[in-house]
Amino acid sequence: MDPVKETYLNFLNSDQGVEIYRKFKDILYTKRDILTRDFIDGEIIKKIAENWKGKKEIYICDIGGGDGRRALEVINYIQSKFRIKCHLDLIEPSKSFISRIKDYKIPKNVVVNCINKRFEDVKFSRRYDLVLLIHSIYTFKGNQTIERAISLTNKNGYTVFIGNSPDSFLAGLKKLVDRTYNSERYELYNVEDYLVSKRSLFVKKSFATVCRISKRDYRASVDGVLDFISMGSYQKLDGESRSKILDYIKSKSRRSNDEVVIKEDEVALIIPNVDRRKLEEKMLYELRMNLKSKGIDVLLVNKIGEGSDIAELKNKKIKINKNSRDKLSILFTMAHLYGHLVQFNSSGYYQRLTKRVKPPFPLKFSDGFKQKFKEYEMEAMRIGKGLMLESFDLDYETDIKYYIFMETDFKHYWNYVTTGKKGSIRDFNLLLLANYKKWDKSKRTIDPIFLDGKIFVKKNFSFSVD
Ligand SMILES: C[S@@+](CC[C@H](N)C(=O)[O-])C[C@H]1O[C@@H](n2cnc3c(N)ncnc32)[C@H](O)[C@@H]1O
Repeated sequence: MDPVKETYLNFLNSDQGVEIYRKFKDILYTKRDILTRDFIDGEIIKKIAENWKGKKEIYICDIGGGDGRRALEVINYIQSKFRIKCHLDLIEPSKSFISRIKDYKIPKNVVVNCINKRFEDVKFSRRYDLVLLIHSIYTFKGNQTIERAISLTNKNGYTVFIGNSPDSFLAGLKKLVDRTYNSERYELYNVEDYLVSKRSLFVKKSFATVCRISKRDYRASVDGVLDFISMGSYQKLDGESRSKILDYIKSKSRRSNDEVVIKEDEVALIIPNVDRRKLEEKMLYELRMNLKSKGIDVLLVNKIGEGSDIAELKNKKIKINKNSRDKLSILFTMAHLYGHLVQFNSSGYYQRLTKRVKPPFPLKFSDGFKQKFKEYEMEAMRIGKGLMLESFDLDYETDIKYYIFMETDFKHYWNYVTTGKKGSIRDFNLLLLANYKKWDKSKRTIDPIFLDGKIFVKKNFSFSVD
């Protein structure tokens, strides 16, 4: 095992290490544990738990669960929502950690089974509805271990990894304190890269844990954080390394009158055990239902009729030619049309803009006008993304493909506008497919716009895509 990973494992397998970790957690995550709160209030677990409505019992596996506190908090939340028996398998190599589970009250309808082993050494005889890995992957050898964790869920189950983002406060601190090891911990971005390379379906959620320390406690709190991150060896570092580390912490903290605020960026990778085809169908369904609740009907038809080949929005009805595009692009077209609907119902600016881009083509425009027009298209896509996120969690690949869809669509359309040559549906689809294939080389996504409240739709508004 790499030296840094071995030190980490041994450190947390000692009473002293466990005490230092608990202290660190109380400082950075506070006694109320804001990470678990974010996990719950940020709706990650809420959305997952919705799938368990009506079930009598569920099985949870917490890999590297420490003293069990976080898993028990999650279970408390689940049980506050519905009566459900929870079985928890807590896999934890540290005896010291396992012995601390007695510090917490185990609710009545919960069966806890502690397995005092490294995850790599456990033989499993069942699958789970939820597998948690909260800040516990740092000693993993590599991708096979991740693959094994993901394979533990049953159909419709979820694996959730939580760790620091690659440029977070703690990520930077680890780089500084681990310098002496010549090796690195396994990190969450390794998991992300692996999932992308495998084309696994996953949702990425970022959130920030904000820690507020009173100025009076600053010194002791910094010592507490450093003690854990350096695995008890901070005091043994040379003076120069120590002062570099303290400067780094200062540069990452914000000071106000009597407090110091440190923000830790966290990432959750949520991997549902569903196949992509089913997920796309579910997303289409959820989006249609959401639009219906806003008074907009979506019809998937074989032919639209006069004037439009792909999609049309008329009298609060969206019609989409279901043969013109793949499922994902139909979803994106719905979102896009909704964006335009909102734009046209809220400002005269867009009418003025689009009035100038009317057939017959070709037409000539300045680069400045093209930019404005692209921004208008982009805004519609952003509103569409807000609508999608209101309806479901967008997985990582679909999120990137939405950006690619926007770029391809605009390029295709603008080519028509400026050359007069209208590409066929097939041309567009081939181009889109070729661009989609390169999705894993890109990380670009669209920022959503969320709208509050109801939108007012003018009855006579119409728009078409052809
Ligand atoms: C930072 S603690 C997090 C504990 C707990 N998940 C929490 O969020 O409070 C990391 C945990 O991962 C455990 N761990 C490290 N390597 C592991 C492995 N290979 N298999 C299982 N657990 C491991 C450690 O023993 C430790 O309990």
